[in-house]
Parts: sequence; structure tokens; C-alpha cells
Amino acid sequence: MRVFVAGATGAIGKQLVPRLVAAGHEVHGMTRSESKQAMLYELGAVPVVADALDPDRVAEAVGRARPDVIVHQLTAIGAVDMRHFDRDFALTNRLRTEGTDHLLSAGQAVGVRRFVAQGVGGFGAYMRTGAPVKSEEDPLDPTPAREMRETQAAIRHLEQAVLGAEWTEGIVLRYGAFYGPGTSLAPGAEQFELVRRRKFPLVGDGGGVWSFIHIADAAEATLAAIEHGHRGVYNVVDDDPAPVAEWLPALAVELGAKKPMRVPRLIGRLFAGEAGVVMMTEVRGASNAKAKRELAWRPAHPSWRQGFAAA
Ligand SMILES: NC(=O)c1ccc[n+]([C@@H]2O[C@H](COP(=O)([O-])OP(=O)(O)OC[C@H]3O[C@@H](n4cnc5c(N)ncnc54)[C@H](OP(=O)(O)O)[C@@H]3O)[C@@H](O)[C@H]2O)c1
Repeated sequence: MRVFVAGATGAIGKQLVPRLVAAGHEVHGMTRSESKQAMLYELGAVPVVADALDPDRVAEAVGRARPDVIVHQLTAIGAVDMRHFDRDFALTNRLRTEGTDHLLSAGQAVGVRRFVAQGVGGFGAYMRTGAPVKSEEDPLDPTPAREMRETQAAIRHLEQAVLGAEWTEGIVLRYGAFYGPGTSLAPGAEQFELVRRRKFPLVGDGGGVWSFIHIADAAEATLAAIEHGHRGVYNVVDDDPAPVAEWLPALAVELGAKKPMRVPRLIGRLFAGEAGVVMMTEVRGASNAKAKRELAWRPAHPSWRQGFAAA
């Protein structure tokens, strides 16, 4: 198939493009920068330079590639101050709203048969009441923390637009927290360093449940969805959702760091805002049963317990 990957140079894109090429697909990889064309060639893709927020350039790029499938992996996350979550996600939110709409209309014009987009399976996307682990049937959080409302609205926009596109097979992959090469949870990268330097405290009871996914496993699941996914949502997470109180100290041990500091919710709120406290104490994990069943996919790193060590 001919596959157009928006976000081909990012953490997931760099893992996905070579897998698509190895599986025999012709890949067109989009980037904003002329200078990243060489990287895309090396990954085996035809480079396409376009800004995802420019509808004409996107239409032109997709029109030229005439893909069978579009993959939307656009984000612009960078450094996040949890007290200003929506502010720091503003560009990502535009990519999830305007960017999605531009890619969908460009895809409709050439009649793509599948449209696979990056959703969110961790980080407070699911409702924060009831069972600790959610399936795709469970509702997204209807009352996100104040500082996460715009981000949650952008995620909803992306999901509704993709799943509502009746002219194509719209698929949303709700990924867990990425770790491994090229992510912020990798040796030397931001989050691992915060834990190593004891700057990632355990807030309250640390009862927030996180679902992780090794970036290579995320790419394998994405390949499976591109090749044979059906319209709908799939959680792409590992087998081992775990509370912060469990994974954070284990990660500290793995990194040879001191035990994470413990701070009460009130102090947590001062330094990380309501969004930070929610992430540490209230979020829910996700189940990968549907992706395993319907995509015939198995994570090679079924648990972060071994996965962190491997990363
Ligand atoms: N589920 C998760 O845990 C999750 C999800 C997403 C990201 N992250 C993490 O967040 C960190 C930062 O990621 P990031 O957001 O900077 O993403 P990234 O992994 O660097 O990828 C962003 C991709 O989007 C493209 N892009 C962004 N804005 C664009 C625009 N206007 N037009 C065209 N392409 C555009 C970038 O292309 P060019 O820069 O080449 O133009 C790049 O290919 C990474 O560590 C990643 O692991 C985690």
C-alpha cells in the first residue's frame, strides 16, 4: 500500500516508517523542515515537506502522494509545566483539531481507505471514577482538571472527526505513555533524569494508574492497524497497568536513584497544579485486550517492569 505518514520524523514515526518499508509499503513521510528530508530518505520514505496547519500544502502533499492510508502522528509537546498544561499543549491541540481536519479533507479528496490517528490512552484521558483499568467502551473523562480542558477537547475533536468519517475506515489508537528510544522516558531524556535527580515526587497516595507502552511495540501495533484494523478505537498499552506508587519507586531503583520523595496532595498542587495531582493520584489505566484480539498484536515488552530495564 501507499502510506502517508504525518509526523514521520517523531518518536513514533521513526519507529513506524522502517517497519512499513520492511513490510513492503511505499511510505511518504511528512516533515516541516527541509533539513529532515535526508533522515526520511534514510528511513526509506519519500520525504514530503509541508506544514500540517497549512490546508493547501497538506492537500497538495496528499494529492501528490495519492496514498491508500493516512497516518496522523502529529504532536508538538516539548517541555510541559503541569500548572499550565493547556498552554503547553496549545500547538499539539491545534494539530489535533485543525491538523486532523486538514488531513481528513485531503484524504477524502483522494479517497484513502484507512485513516489511522494518534489518540491518548493514559494521562487522564479516561474517566477517573470506577474501575482502575478502562476498555475502549469506557467514557473519556467528562470533567477533566481545569488546566486540561482544552487538551481533552482537542482529543475529543480528533476522535469524533476520525471515527465519524464514514467514507473511510477511521481508526484511533489510544497509546499509553511512550518509553524507549526517542521518547522522554529514555536514558538521558527528561523524565528519566527527573527521577534520577529525585525531582519526580510521589504525590499523595500515588494511586493514579498508568499504562505504558514501549515505543517499538506502539509502532508494531500501528503497523497492524494500518494493515488490517477496522473502524474504531484500540488501546495500545502494555499488559501491566500500575499505580504511580508502584512504578515510580521501581524506576528509581532501576536508575540507581534514591527513593522518590513523598509529598502530600496540597504540596503537589502547589508545584504541579491540579493536573499534576490528577496524574499522580486519579488517572486510570487501559486494557489492551481488544488490540490483542483484533489486531493479532502482542507487545514484545509486556510489562514496564522488564521494559524500563531494556530501555
Ligand atoms: N503517548 C505518549 O506517551 C506520547 C505521545 C506523543 C508524544 N510523546 C512524547 O513527547 C515527546 C515530544 O514529542 P513531540 O510532540 O515533540 O513529538 P515528536 O515525537 O518529536 O514528533 C512530532 C512529529 O510531528 C511533526 N510535526 C509537528 N508539528 C508539525 C507541523 N506543524 N507540520 C508538520 N509536522 C509537524 C514533527 O515533524 P517535524 O518536526 O519534522 O516537522 C514530528 O514528526 C517525545 O518524547 C514523545 O515520546 C508521548
